[in-house]
Amino acid sequence: MRGKFITFEGIDGSGKSTQLRLLADDLRFRGFNVLTTHQPGGTPLGRRLREAFLETEENVAPMAELLLFAADRAQHVEFLIKPALAEGKIVLSDRYADATTAYQGAGRGFDAKTIKQVIQLATGGLKPDLTLFFDLPVSIGLQRTNKRDAMGELKNRMDKENSEFYDRVRQAYLEIIDKEPRRFRVIDAMLSVEEVHAKALEILTEYLKK
Ligand code: TYD
Repeated sequence: MRGKFITFEGIDGSGKSTQLRLLADDLRFRGFNVLTTHQPGGTPLGRRLREAFLETEENVAPMAELLLFAADRAQHVEFLIKPALAEGKIVLSDRYADATTAYQGAGRGFDAKTIKQVIQLATGGLKPDLTLFFDLPVSIGLQRTNKRDAMGELKNRMDKENSEFYDRVRQAYLEIIDKEPRRFRVIDAMLSVEEVHAKALEILTEYLKK
């Protein structure tokens, strides 16, 4: 039986990575075979691409950025996600192709057709079965990532973007949700970690019952 492909999306600071870890623990406890992963960086090659891109001081051409995320995704789909799905696993991925639509499309300004083509090339058309969107006002997301920075956690290239950039990114996510409401569940990420977790677990439990 094919597994389930579930992705986690949201602007930076939305808390999706913490939620992914908590949900993976719950599902494993219940006996599900779970693979957790993330983009960029879910494979050894992806981790090198992520480092090369997110941590360089040099200017990166927007097209190079778009294609680096696509290269990371192609490797990830081929060697990690597809095999895990074929083995019947539940794959939980911290970000996937919607991030490219939001960040490179709306954020950087690539047109919809180019974005669609690049996503199709990288994924071969593999789409998530379910996407959890952790929604947060941009001002709060920025406060959270700035706090991370003040605590000495590495700030990446994207974390340096301003609130107009993140407004476009969040808006783009909301537009994708509008177009594909059946694939998405929106969770209010302003709530406490425990409350968000309870909500997300309820959604996943309901989804996996089917
Ligand atoms: P990272 O620190 O790896 O993860 P996160 O912030 O998701 O916990 O940073 C990844 C950054 O890359 C994040 O700001 C989102 C961005 N990104 C894109 O711009 N396009 C993409 O296709 C993906 C997957 C991520």
